[in-house]
Amino acid sequence: MVSRRDFLNLSAATLLAGRNALPRGTSMRVGLMKNELLQRRLAGDPQRPQYHLMPPANWMNDPNGPIFWKGQYHMFYQHNPNGPFPESMNWGHAVSPDLVHWKHLPIALSPTPGGPDKDGCWSGCAVVDRGVPTLIYTGVFPQVQCLARSEDGLMTWRKFTGNPVIATPPQGMETTGFRDPCVWREADEWLLAIGSGIKGQGGMVLLYRSKDLIQWDYLHFLCKGRKEELPPGEDPVSTGEMWECPDFFPLADKHALIVSTQGAVVYSLGAYVNRYFRPEHQGKADLGDSYYAPRSMVDEKGRRILWGWIREGRSDAAQHAAGWAGVMSLPRVLTLGPDGALAMAPPPEIEALRGKHQRVESLPVLPGSFPLLKGVGGDGLEIHAEFEPGTSEAVGLMVRSTPDGKEQTLITCHRSSGQLLVDRERSSLSQDVGRGAQGGPFALGEDETLKLRVFLDASVIEIFANDRACLTSRIYPSQADSLGLGVFARGNKARLKSLDIWEMRPISPNRLTT
Ligand code: FRU
Repeated sequence: MVSRRDFLNLSAATLLAGRNALPRGTSMRVGLMKNELLQRRLAGDPQRPQYHLMPPANWMNDPNGPIFWKGQYHMFYQHNPNGPFPESMNWGHAVSPDLVHWKHLPIALSPTPGGPDKDGCWSGCAVVDRGVPTLIYTGVFPQVQCLARSEDGLMTWRKFTGNPVIATPPQGMETTGFRDPCVWREADEWLLAIGSGIKGQGGMVLLYRSKDLIQWDYLHFLCKGRKEELPPGEDPVSTGEMWECPDFFPLADKHALIVSTQGAVVYSLGAYVNRYFRPEHQGKADLGDSYYAPRSMVDEKGRRILWGWIREGRSDAAQHAAGWAGVMSLPRVLTLGPDGALAMAPPPEIEALRGKHQRVESLPVLPGSFPLLKGVGGDGLEIHAEFEPGTSEAVGLMVRSTPDGKEQTLITCHRSSGQLLVDRERSSLSQDVGRGAQGGPFALGEDETLKLRVFLDASVIEIFANDRACLTSRIYPSQADSLGLGVFARGNKARLKSLDIWEMRPISPNRLTT
């Protein structure tokens, strides 16, 4: 757990790291006072999540190089320590003994003036090379691949003096991008998959190999957007022209490739043969559009754990005023589902955050009314709801509702259209935030109950539905009493089998309690 004191010390470090951004002549003392004020503002911000990992302040996006090292989970992430906007990317760094409680560590990578990463240290991965933790990441501009090693247990990082280790895309290839390396070991070689694409053709992952992580040879593409296999009439580049942040790994007897297509996060499960990946089953890693650029790791228990960036859903001006932007998702343990799809569930460690518990059992849910449940609710909750949908057309949960319902967010399983949606039309009275529904395909089987596991954390909603679909969304209720919780059905009645609600404990003092 990060103490308030650590938190403030760290913020000073963050500020020092960003001292070049201070106006000329501004004294460090004034800077520190400003920082203290910023910390107080952040700590009092009702929209700032309480039990999700995020930087002490300012901007974050993609998770980078998550790695389990000597009993601890290390997480790096794209971070601008100088403001809540994406500029001049650094690698922020945090460490956790248990996947849940985090301590911030000094920034791992910053751009080197005049170096190949002078304009930013973009996304990448971490591997252990003969006992030495090593980061492989993209330097910009142009997009080249760089390497840094740590000899002191991941605390400080020395960049390879011969950077970049890959200076250009393969010869003759007109790529839409060339970034976000993912590296793994195969027998006595290193393999590297990199995000790319070709204009008019689609996204692509390119494959390289190396003996020493320094000298890389291009092999061929690992996988590409295959227009010939799309239904007639569909946009030939419907998975985009650039695949970012490829994550490639074995899962049970299959291989999985996850790519971020500058729209959706698409996963494929399939066969890896002769160093080509052939997708057999595809789906979305998240049904919403708030979750992006995920990366995975394996821990000592052998679990494949995926982390994603939860982006904001409000205006740049609102992010600027808040002083922070971007949140790390909760970890998701990945397995191969019985239906051949990707199954995702939070790890049991999350339960350590559970506080006060309430349970409601066996409640008829009648169409046409949205009754708030008495005495339950909040903005930092884990909710398990199991519904017998009966012949209802739609069934779901209402969260973050004011007593009069003027603000409310609906989590709905539409049985008729086979969709799971977060309806944000009335989530906030503020004009500065995203509205409308987020979601996608989710069909319940005959006689299957709807099992929603919902994590509410201030402006973050993460939903796990029947362990096979995830939906992440952002809401920014403006009223202090937008805390109510209810259940609803449409068309016909349904039944709430059980509802468990836990208050979740904060992991860092992000909000003043006095
Ligand atoms: C994905 C991404 C990556 C890139 C990074 C820059 O969100 O665009 O492709 O490396 O963010 O911050």
